[in-house]
Amino acid sequence: MAATLGHARAFVGPVIHSLSVSKLEINPLALLIIDPQGKINKLVKLEPDGLAEQLDQALDHLPFCLDRTNTTHLNPGEFLIPGFVDTHNHAPQYAQRGLGQGMHILDWLSKITFPNEAKFSDPVYARKIYTACVEGFLRQGITTASYFGSVHAEATKILADICLQKRQRAYVGKCNMTRNSPDFYVEKSAGDSLRETRECISHVRAIDPAGRLVKYVITPRFAISCDEETLKGLGDIRSENEDLAVQTHFNEAKQEMEETQRLFPQFGGSEADLYQEFGLLGKRTILAHCCYMDEHELEIIEKLGCGVAHCPIANLTVGGGFMAAPVRELLDKKIKVGLGTDSGGGFSSSMLDAMRQAMIASNAREVMSEGKDKGLSIAEVFYLATLGGAAVCCLEDKIGSFEAGKDFDGLIIGTKGADQGIMTMVEEDDTLETVFEKFIMTGDDRNIVEVYVQGQYVKGQRACVSTS
Ligand code: GUN
Ligand code: FE
Repeated sequence: MAATLGHARAFVGPVIHSLSVSKLEINPLALLIIDPQGKINKLVKLEPDGLAEQLDQALDHLPFCLDRTNTTHLNPGEFLIPGFVDTHNHAPQYAQRGLGQGMHILDWLSKITFPNEAKFSDPVYARKIYTACVEGFLRQGITTASYFGSVHAEATKILADICLQKRQRAYVGKCNMTRNSPDFYVEKSAGDSLRETRECISHVRAIDPAGRLVKYVITPRFAISCDEETLKGLGDIRSENEDLAVQTHFNEAKQEMEETQRLFPQFGGSEADLYQEFGLLGKRTILAHCCYMDEHELEIIEKLGCGVAHCPIANLTVGGGFMAAPVRELLDKKIKVGLGTDSGGGFSSSMLDAMRQAMIASNAREVMSEGKDKGLSIAEVFYLATLGGAAVCCLEDKIGSFEAGKDFDGLIIGTKGADQGIMTMVEEDDTLETVFEKFIMTGDDRNIVEVYVQGQYVKGQRACVSTS
C-alpha cells in the first residue's frame, strides 16, 4: 500500500491539523499530495460532488510523476493527523514505566531509576530495550522524540542507530552525571563526561550527516548530577555547535529545587540563572517540567526563547510536588510549550494519555488560580502534542502540521471496525469533530493504523506493503 521514498503519493479523506494554538483546521474531505522526497506538496480542500474531476485537476500538472495507484482513499471512519512529538523522554526507562509511582523525585531516582539505567552498560541489553522503546513509540504515533539516554556512550550510540534504522525522528543525548549519583552509575570525571559527549556527537553526525532524522542533544541530567566543570564544558560545546539542542530537568519538584539551591547557593534558588550562567539556555533548549516558575525565571526563558516540555503524567505521579507547569500562563506569554511522556517518570508513554493528563492538570490550575488560568481545550492539547512540540524542538518549519513544504510525518487514525479497540463507538450522525474528540479522549494505539515519517510508512496496526 505505501510507497517508499522516491515515490510520490497522495491521500484522499478527512484531514485534521493545528494551524496555531487556537486554530484547529478540520477538513472533512481533502487531498494531501506528498512528493518523492516525502515533503508535502499541497493540501487541497475538496467537495464531495464532482470528486473525480477535482482530483484530476489537482493531480495533473504536478512537477513530479504521481502514479495514480499511489493515491490512497481513506476508509470510512479514518482520518489523517500529524505525528505526535514527545518533547521529553528517557529511553532507558521504557522498561521501568509504572514503577515507584508516588515517590519523591530523589528517592525514586536512587531506588528505582539509577539501578535500572545502570543496566545499559551492557550493549546487548541496551539494544533489546531500545528496539522495544522505539518500536513502541512509533506504534503509539510518536514520530518525533527527544530522548535522554543513559550515562553510557555506547548505549546512546546504539539508541541513535536504532532511531535512524527504524526511521523515527529523534534527538538523542547521553546523560551527563559526574556527581551525587551512586558509585555504580556515575562518570569518573568531568573530562571523561565531556570526551564521551563529543564522541556521541561525532557518531550521530556520522550516521546522519545532514541531521535529516537524528540529531544529538546536549543532556546534563540536572544540575544536581553535574559539577561546575561539567556544566561549563557542556556550555562550551554548545557555543562551538550552535545547531545542537540542549535538554535538562528544570524546577521539577521542591525536593529537587531545594537540593539545587544547596549545591549552587550563588544563584539564589533560580535554575534559570544557573543554566544561563553556564551557557546552556537558548532557543534550542528544552526545559522539562517547569512546575514552579516565578516572574524572573519566566522572563529569562521568554527572552532567550527556551521551550518547555510539559510532562503532566510524571508530575502528578513521580515527583512529590504534585504540581504541573503553568501552561496557560506560558502560552499567554508566547513561551513555546509541548508535551512529554517522560516515559519512566510516569506510567504511560502514550501521547494521548499525556494530552488527557494535560487537560486534567490545567483544570486543577484553573481552580487554584480562582478561574484566572483557564483549563486547556481538546484543540489546545492537540496543538501541544503536535505543532507546539515541533516548535519546542525548533522543527516547526519541518513538521507538526500539513503545511506545504513540510515533511510528511503523519498518522492514519481508524475509528470504525472490529480492530478499533475500546474507543467510544462512532455513531452514524457524528461529525468529524465529534469523532476526533472521541479518539483523543478514549482512543489508543489500536486506532493508530498507519504511521509515516518523511513520507515513508514506518509502523502501524495495519501492515503496509511497499509498492516499489
Ligand atoms: N530529574 C533527574 N533525572 C530525572 C528523571 O530521570 N526523571 C525525572 N522525572 N526527573 C529527573
Ligand atoms: Fe524526565
